[in-house]
Amino acid sequence: MGTQTTFLKNTWYVAAWSHEISAEALLARTITRVPVLLWRDRAGRVVALEDRCCHRAAPLSKGRREGDRIRCMYHGLLFDTDGRCVEIPSQDFIPPAARVRALPVVERFKWIWVWMGDPARADESLIPDTHYLDDPGWRGIPGYLHYDANYLLITDNLLDFSHLSYVHETTLGGSAKYATARPKVTRLGRSVRVERWLIDDAPAPYLQKLKTWPGNVDRWNIYDVVLPGVLLMDSGSAPTGTGAPQGHRVDAAEFFGCQAVTPETETTSHYFFQQCHGFALDDAVVTESLTASVHAGFLEDKDIILAQQRILELDPDTPMLAMRMDTALASFRAMMEKAIADERGAAPADATLGAATASARC
Ligand code: FES
Ligand SMILES: [Fe+2]
Repeated sequence: MGTQTTFLKNTWYVAAWSHEISAEALLARTITRVPVLLWRDRAGRVVALEDRCCHRAAPLSKGRREGDRIRCMYHGLLFDTDGRCVEIPSQDFIPPAARVRALPVVERFKWIWVWMGDPARADESLIPDTHYLDDPGWRGIPGYLHYDANYLLITDNLLDFSHLSYVHETTLGGSAKYATARPKVTRLGRSVRVERWLIDDAPAPYLQKLKTWPGNVDRWNIYDVVLPGVLLMDSGSAPTGTGAPQGHRVDAAEFFGCQAVTPETETTSHYFFQQCHGFALDDAVVTESLTASVHAGFLEDKDIILAQQRILELDPDTPMLAMRMDTALASFRAMMEKAIADERGAAPADATLGAATASARC
């Protein structure tokens, strides 16, 4: 991937939480270096337009809603929900090129997904299943962090939980076993699956605030990271010796995490997340405590990743040394590299696991 990051275009990106786009909102959000305006028509449907007027590139997000139209408040061009210009105050003739790009957009389970590539290829069935975000059998609170870091540094972090022993030593991790465990890593079509078990260990520090057991627990993190950067994770703890590794989850604390990393530019990213719990459903204190712990933990990640980004910016060719723990992130980077190369109609220069690890930088 090297220093010149390119972005996958023919893919769905999480652009926003549903609640961020209120009836009157004009939400500006840059995705893969493209300025995007998100808003709702009067029927409540989300509209995504390129946030760049075709006249002189003023952002439409600084414009004005006029029913189901947006007026650019620089020189007054008026656009409909398809991005067509329907009025130019200074002339009667509207040239066919007077339009802004309308992006395919889908609102599903509280996330707003936009397709940044060829609209003809925007297949809704490719959107990962995140129903946990909005399922009565689960509870969770939406979260968001903005990062001044390349998106792949964030997915690297998500693909290697050995960092839980160090970055989250007193919070989400609390066990040296995270670093010594050898997860099973499986490369699937458009995702990498990581399965990690910690057997007969103390419950994580944050979990001790949510649920108590008389002894040790078995802990699991089983997750997929799907292109272009969506994590779907089944995790939890159950009393050790009760059969959780064999699929018998007795007296368990089960969680489902949905996270999405969306590149804003080469050096900035959006990070959307919600950690859902499937026990104590009617206890709002559990939901709030879990959310606070996860948010605090994610700030620990952010702190180390931003520091790493600053070092890499000093010398983007900084060499990296591949380790066993990099297997999942190297697989994901190779997959991303190949997907981008395929999209551009060219073979990747070298999409082997080793090469992807060597280029594991911003
Ligand atoms: S820049 Fe939008 S009308 Fe001129
Ligand atoms: Fe982390």
